Amino acid sequence: MTEIAQLRGPALEALQRKVEGKPEAMLRLAALMRKGGREPEAHALARRAMALAPDEPVVRHLAREFLSGGVPDWHLILVRDSVRNDAYEAALRRAIRPGMRVLEIGTGSGILAMMAARAGAAEVVTCEMNDIVAETARKIIARNGYAGRVRVISKHSDKIDADGDLGGRMDLLVSEIVSNDLLAEDVLPAHERAVRDLLKPGAPVIPASGRIRVALADCSDDKFAPIGEVSGFDLSDMMEWRAPSLLVKSGSNTVALRSTPADLFDFDFASVAHTVGEARHVTCCASGGTANGILQWIDLTLDAATSYENAPGSPHYSCWAMRFWPFVQPLETREGDAVTIHGAHDRHHVRVWMER
Ligand SMILES: C[S@@+](CC[C@H](N)C(=O)[O-])C[C@H]1O[C@@H](n2cnc3c(N)ncnc32)[C@H](O)[C@@H]1O
Repeated sequence: MTEIAQLRGPALEALQRKVEGKPEAMLRLAALMRKGGREPEAHALARRAMALAPDEPVVRHLAREFLSGGVPDWHLILVRDSVRNDAYEAALRRAIRPGMRVLEIGTGSGILAMMAARAGAAEVVTCEMNDIVAETARKIIARNGYAGRVRVISKHSDKIDADGDLGGRMDLLVSEIVSNDLLAEDVLPAHERAVRDLLKPGAPVIPASGRIRVALADCSDDKFAPIGEVSGFDLSDMMEWRAPSLLVKSGSNTVALRSTPADLFDFDFASVAHTVGEARHVTCCASGGTANGILQWIDLTLDAATSYENAPGSPHYSCWAMRFWPFVQPLETREGDAVTIHGAHDRHHVRVWMER
């Protein structure tokens, strides 16, 4: 199997000829080609297979496996976050003036690009690095009647050329390439490059900025509980396998804050020069009781009038999860104690800890 995934050149072409016309075999080969890093050809082969027998149950399953395997499942979650969607739309409506040309980084379903067009943009160019996603977005945009004003480019934003791809620098940048910890989808390098090379000087950027917030917390979720004796055996060494941080669903009632929150990092998304990395610490005021870790979440400023925070206890559903950094030993806090939380980032990831 692995050898097939490594196939290249004439050997691969011969295999493709052999499976051509047999949709199941074509889809199995497409999956192997993806494993071997040949995504565009794999995708084309899978599409041909689906067209041959769209209603055949095994082909349908293999096709779903192939398509879903190439698209992160959070796409289906984030478009259901109506508070997020409304915050973006409000900011776009305030910023867009007739005749404006808008650039989006990260099309996804096409929802923000269509919102920009609905808000009156003369032209929206949106780029998407995932070919499967870009292809579906084009269908969605056409289905909703925006194909004339919204153009999807199947490229990473770093590969976009202002003259060749855009026909000149754009009037506004919108993006939602924000991960649970704000940085992991590379929002900082992608924005820096787009603001520097693809936008007119001073063009508005939505979201304008983002913060990483932290507080002491007590999380009662089972997955944070220490493992000790189980069925009469000491399994405590399993704790080595626990990741340093775990995700907590926003809206979870298993988490209670044990201090005031504080902004650990604050990023201006219109800046062309973020630091290569930085370490900071903040002081919070303990509220009393046991804390078994540090909770981290995000706060986006879309524009001067609209912000979005997936804070604990927030009444609305959020597509972004919070991150919890469990302590090795719980901390007993007294109300009013000053506690210092440390953090560092390297532009891509964030780490948070407490020194005791
Ligand atoms: C979190 S989704 C957001 C999708 C959509 N804009 C929305 O708000 O629902 C981000 C999308 O951007 C794409 N993406 C992330 N960084 C990108 C980049 N620098 N250039 C092009 N596409 C990017 C991802 O593949 C993904 O489809």
